[in-house]
Amino acid sequence: MIETILTRRSVRSFLPDPVPPDSLEALLKAGFHAPSAMNQRPWHFVVLEGERLEGLLRGLANTPKGAPLALVVCVDENLERLTRAGDSDAAAASQNILLAAHSLGLGAVWSAVLPGSEGFVRGYLGLPEKIRPFSVIPVGKPAQKPAPVDRYDGSRVHRNGW
Ligand SMILES: Cc1cc2nc3c(=O)[nH]c(=O)nc-3n(C[C@H](O)[C@H](O)[C@H](O)COP(=O)(O)O)c2cc1C
Repeated sequence: MIETILTRRSVRSFLPDPVPPDSLEALLKAGFHAPSAMNQRPWHFVVLEGERLEGLLRGLANTPKGAPLALVVCVDENLERLTRAGDSDAAAASQNILLAAHSLGLGAVWSAVLPGSEGFVRGYLGLPEKIRPFSVIPVGKPAQKPAPVDRYDGSRVHRNGW
């Protein structure tokens, strides 16, 4: 796991090969197994492929193109009502998906649903009113693998207080 965490990078160029069904299932399981505040698990995952994915990506300038598949991680606002932690929970699920993809030899990138794009994503996917799109995660075989980088920074580590 430490190796997986330290070597994961955002992948933004992809081969067209489809993501195998068992890999997709593993990615979804990884998302569902993230920790969540008060175990509310306020997430939904929208799986997009082919023309439906291309149409979504045409409306999202910040999301890398060319992956055969993407997951849209969404927050159920009814379930986050108690905790107000839906974005944190969706972030944990997104990170689990990125790490699972990397461990399966797939590339992925977390892209934000920016405030200006939220309405477009809602309409395009037909999301119910209380479902908020949080991240779009394109996934596929990497066309290019960014090299691991060492980001440990001892100056940001504070022992027994600042
Ligand atoms: C909350 C969040 C939002 C991000 N949004 C985007 C995005 O919209 N488009 C994109 O290409 N990458 C996005 N990224 C990926 C970051 O740019 C990337 O993680 C960062 O540059 C570090 O590079 P690395 O993932 O290769 O380690 C996002 C990452 C996070 C955590």
